[in-house]
Amino acid sequence: MIYPRIIAHRCGGALAPENTLAGLRLAARLGCRGVEFDAMLCADGVPVLIHDETLERTTSGRGTVAAMSSAQLAQLDAGRRHHPAFAGEPAPTLDAALRLCAELGLWANVEIKPSAGQELATGDVVARHAAAASGKLLLSSFSAQALGAAAAEAPQLRRALLVEAIPADWRERMLASGALALHASARALTAAALREVRDAGFPLACYTVNRRDDAERLLALGVNAVITDRPDLWTASEM
Ligand code: G3P
Ligand code: MG
Repeated sequence: MIYPRIIAHRCGGALAPENTLAGLRLAARLGCRGVEFDAMLCADGVPVLIHDETLERTTSGRGTVAAMSSAQLAQLDAGRRHHPAFAGEPAPTLDAALRLCAELGLWANVEIKPSAGQELATGDVVARHAAAASGKLLLSSFSAQALGAAAAEAPQLRRALLVEAIPADWRERMLASGALALHASARALTAAALREVRDAGFPLACYTVNRRDDAERLLALGVNAVITDRPDLWTASEM
């Protein structure tokens, strides 16, 4: 599986409001080849880009994403909390984000981020929308159930299992969820686990690596990609 070495976290990393089209445009301007973002279902089943199950941290709304229709969500401001310069930036639909990625030539890691209890529906719907997109992408999730549902809906899409620390039974868990790659927390990564995954030939990406020296060290040790809030620490030709 081909990974961009450097993947901008939540679209544009820390430099733009997370999970927004403004973030994707910024990532492209920086020369990123790959981005990661989070997709969740709102009340009418439309997948939108947002990280938290609740709206308060990143948007002008209140309450849960699962209780909000896509029309209501489209009215919210998902830019101002990052910086007033981004006021009016919406929380985009997954379709809009995938269209823009294709237009900008960005490889996308779509993280399936289910609200509690919505694992199967989110895996299924996100995979259906991703399968209809024209750009290059990879699905990932912490939820094995969501990955299983995505595999049933769109078996042709590549999938990665997300974990914090790499568990002892990582291989069984990957098999069970049909994942071809592992995405693990850099903070919890041990040399032994890294060696095991690498020696078994599975691609490994690490999140969230915000220092260039840490990222380069992981890449030199055989990590295929790092997911970062600071894509600005590299030039376009280095990414
Ligand atoms: O996909 C890697 C990373 O985004 C997972 O953590 O909480 O930022 O979605 P989180
Ligand atoms: Mg994520």
